[in-house]
Amino acid sequence: MRAVNIHEVGPAAGHRVEEISDLTPKPGQVVVATHAIGINYPDMLVVEGKYQLIPPRPFTPGKEAAGVIVAIGAGVNGLSDGQRVLLQTEYGAFAEQVAVDARMVCPIPDSVGFEEAAALGLTYQTAHFALIERAVLQSGETVLVTGASGGVGLAAVELAKAFGAKVIAGVTSAQKGQLAIEHGAEAWVDLTAENLRDSLREQIAAITGGGVDVVIDNVGGEVFTAALRAIAWRGRLVVVGFASTRIPELKANYLLLKNIAVTGLQWSDYREREPAWVARVQQEIFRLFVEGRLRPYISARYRLEDFAQALERFNRRDVQGKMLLIP
Ligand SMILES: NC(=O)c1ccc[n+]([C@@H]2O[C@H](COP(=O)([O-])OP(=O)(O)OC[C@H]3O[C@@H](n4cnc5c(N)ncnc54)[C@H](OP(=O)(O)O)[C@@H]3O)[C@@H](O)[C@H]2O)c1
Repeated sequence: MRAVNIHEVGPAAGHRVEEISDLTPKPGQVVVATHAIGINYPDMLVVEGKYQLIPPRPFTPGKEAAGVIVAIGAGVNGLSDGQRVLLQTEYGAFAEQVAVDARMVCPIPDSVGFEEAAALGLTYQTAHFALIERAVLQSGETVLVTGASGGVGLAAVELAKAFGAKVIAGVTSAQKGQLAIEHGAEAWVDLTAENLRDSLREQIAAITGGGVDVVIDNVGGEVFTAALRAIAWRGRLVVVGFASTRIPELKANYLLLKNIAVTGLQWSDYREREPAWVARVQQEIFRLFVEGRLRPYISARYRLEDFAQALERFNRRDVQGKMLLIP
């Protein structure tokens, strides 16, 4: 079978797809033949050696794929040969086959295609855990999503809207604001405005009359600092990522002055520690999709051998919604 094989981490263009042995499942595992593979921002970080966990070399990157079970290891119950599933894994998905712990696969409903399933995984899971588990979002609250045109951002816009929130998209252009509005945002704010520290608070106040209840921050840097100042009394901010590549510092007096909570999310911890919880959330995400309340935006599809072209787009800030590899 063919797989992206990383011998040493470094720029994406330096790596190749290679022919490697077919996989056999260990006890407790299944092997899935992939039909659509999700591409995520952390994949770029892993391949380039900038992620917190770099697997032993050689390894295959890739954190999720939709496909069909082709082999079942000893001790696996409740899954069958030929079953359509979405899998999540720390690495290994940029391949024609993936061997994965059986607890890391979730059956795909009949009415959901492979591409849609692969686009409803990691980014929607991250957005769901950020909104519900970390921010404890309540229906009727106002949510600011920063980086709202990106993978996690657009998923957070859709899910927050589906949960009854009023959503404000933080974006860097009118075109990206319009994309967020098409996916459920009520308004957008400009993250490139001069003096963002004051401007973001003013833009938010013009829309809400006050501040936002929840911030989902995918960007970090000065956007984080400005968003903190745009939060309402008893608001919550969830640190999801640093797409700006800048890790901000926090002035703790803000938390006290407005009774604000700042919290973080590392979704992969939930995947490893709480697979049954993650599976329940995935079923809910699929249900919301089947009900027509989520509409993942698949902006690009690449052949497996063109994975580097896709990953390089994250560095160029050239990604909207979700990109897929089609093996
Ligand atoms: N915590 C977790 O468990 C978890 C899970 C998945 C991802 N993440 C992290 O979440 C972040 C977003 O991931 P993603 O998949 O959504 O990436 P993405 O698709 O590349 O989206 C990134 C977004 O951030 C915006 N952005 C980047 N730099 C910016 C800046 N300086 N100012 C304003 N906006 C900026 C981009 O807007 P433009 O296109 O306009 O630049 C884009 O909308 C990444 O840091 C990723 O590592 C965390």
